[in-house]
Amino acid sequence: MKREGFGSKFGVLAAAAGSAIGLGNIWKFPYIAGENGGAAFIFLYLFFILLLGVPLMVSELVIGRKGQSNVVRAFKKLAPNTKWHYTGILGVSTAFILFSFYSAVAGWIFAYVSRSISGDLISISPDKLGSYFNGIISSNIEPLIWQFIVIAFTAFIVIAGIKKGVEKYSKILMPVLFGLLVILAVRSVTLEGASKGIEFLFKPDFASLTGKGILEALGHAFFSLSLGMGTLVTYGSYINKKENLQTMALQITMADTLIALIAGLVIFPAVFAYGFQPDQGPELIFITLPAVFKEMPLGGIFQSLFFVLVGIAALTSTISLLEIIVSYFTEEYKISRKKVTIIVSFIIFLLGIPNTLSFGILENVKLFDKTIFDLFNFSVSNVMLPLGGLLIALFVGKVWGTKNAINEATNDGKIDFPLAKGYTIIIKYIAPVAIIIILLYSTGIL
Ligand code: TRP
Repeated sequence: MKREGFGSKFGVLAAAAGSAIGLGNIWKFPYIAGENGGAAFIFLYLFFILLLGVPLMVSELVIGRKGQSNVVRAFKKLAPNTKWHYTGILGVSTAFILFSFYSAVAGWIFAYVSRSISGDLISISPDKLGSYFNGIISSNIEPLIWQFIVIAFTAFIVIAGIKKGVEKYSKILMPVLFGLLVILAVRSVTLEGASKGIEFLFKPDFASLTGKGILEALGHAFFSLSLGMGTLVTYGSYINKKENLQTMALQITMADTLIALIAGLVIFPAVFAYGFQPDQGPELIFITLPAVFKEMPLGGIFQSLFFVLVGIAALTSTISLLEIIVSYFTEEYKISRKKVTIIVSFIIFLLGIPNTLSFGILENVKLFDKTIFDLFNFSVSNVMLPLGGLLIALFVGKVWGTKNAINEATNDGKIDFPLAKGYTIIIKYIAPVAIIIILLYSTGIL
């Protein structure tokens, strides 16, 4: 059976950038930048993206395109009779867990889309927004319904396949997302008093960086680029042999970074212009921003556009999460795409329920001192993704070999790889050491 692949270069880029650009860019990046003092953190983040993000992304893409199969089989093909395919199994498992809590947050976004379009959200007075948000996420039914809708939408697109589903919707949704974001950024930076927010984003004060901030920047570089779980191995397998994977990795990375920065330009100038604090943490876009929109002329409209945009960003990421899992089960167990997608989505919804309810009735259920949501989030962001990234770097550096990786990245020597030396050094030495340090630190061993 011939495998389906992406139909156009723009389609690949939209889908891969769609995976990378998600809640990580618009929800998480602004609040962790806000908590870590802004510009200095952002500069460090950019440094990690270039130093480690791009080489790892190239590695995932070349493994995928060489392997021409799902993430588990790709490792089996490149290193037969070894246990390296467990890296792929780790990736598929990570996708299940990530999707189950990511869809909880995406569900809150969908709830906010509905409430901002209905005009409800803009009518809430700023001092009540905290309890308004907590009321939504702690109820027992509503957030589950939204979570179900997020998963169902995703499944609907994935069932349609690579060209007619993933690629088609990414090609529509990504430009819409970009357009909305630019409109909102223009609104925000032209507010009176916006300059303080711009300074916060771009004028670094390196004294504000802490050890924790440095590791958070590194961890988030992985999370934001969807690295460490074989997303780009999977998408790489759908990419045409003629494409230049080096430039693709750069383009995906640039798109992801640009969107995170523009999201910062939407949020911080407005936050500062109206005298709010940038360091509210995870609630920044749910509680602080609606208060900001309330102050703004036509705030209700801008607010609706904003949450629609975040919803789109979340959806293009959940599509790729589901695709990793579905491509594995359809190819390995020869079950139809539709059947697998429905079964897997159902399991993810079941896994998602305790995540969502851990803000409500399961609030006091704790393991290792963490709620279910926090535990899932922590395991993925601080353990599974870095571990996956480490295994991928070790695989390319020590098992499959950077020569083979470079060969695939140059389309068998037909195109140049100007940074091949640097790539080799990073994948063999710098990336493993850096990742081991994050792993030890984030698990509390160091
Ligand atoms: N990059 C996504 C974001 O920024 C989150 C993410 C991490 C992800 N790994 C992934 C999404 C794998 C899809 C697939 O929100």
